Amino acid sequence: KKILVIHGPNLNLLGEREPGVYGSAGIDTLNSNIIDRAKEQGLECEIFQSNHEGAIIDKLHAARNTFDGVILNAGAYTHYSYAIRDAIAAIKIPVIEVHISNVFARDEFRSNSVIAPVCKGSISGFGFGSYYLAVQALAEL
Ligand code: DQA
Repeated sequence: KKILVIHGPNLNLLGEREPGVYGSAGIDTLNSNIIDRAKEQGLECEIFQSNHEGAIIDKLHAARNTFDGVILNAGAYTHYSYAIRDAIAAIKIPVIEVHISNVFARDEFRSNSVIAPVCKGSISGFGFGSYYLAVQALAEL
């Protein structure tokens, strides 16, 4: 099985960005941990990061025939991008929504996800562990 991990806007700044919320480790550390976890589960894994809504949509479209599942941290797009929601709804492979922080324990606008209803499931609040749990979930699907 092949899985795709998509990191959305501002996640390239992990480690520097609000470390009290997102931790002090960078995206390279996160990515190498994800690849290790995927290997342990017998999964091939590609990782993509973009700050652009359209690039995320293009990647979801491209994934539909080449991957078995997607782990998506859509960043703030989670809360208002109907275009990303429609892209997820348009493809048949499962997409798991992840968040590093607990989006329900923060600003009110973060407690609404417009993508959650079209995702297979959502994981929020476990730090980088949210991604590792999603890898396990895709392995077991
Ligand atoms: C986030 C939560 C979002 O509300 C925020 O806009 C992000 C990161 C998280 O991983 O906790 O950029 O998706």
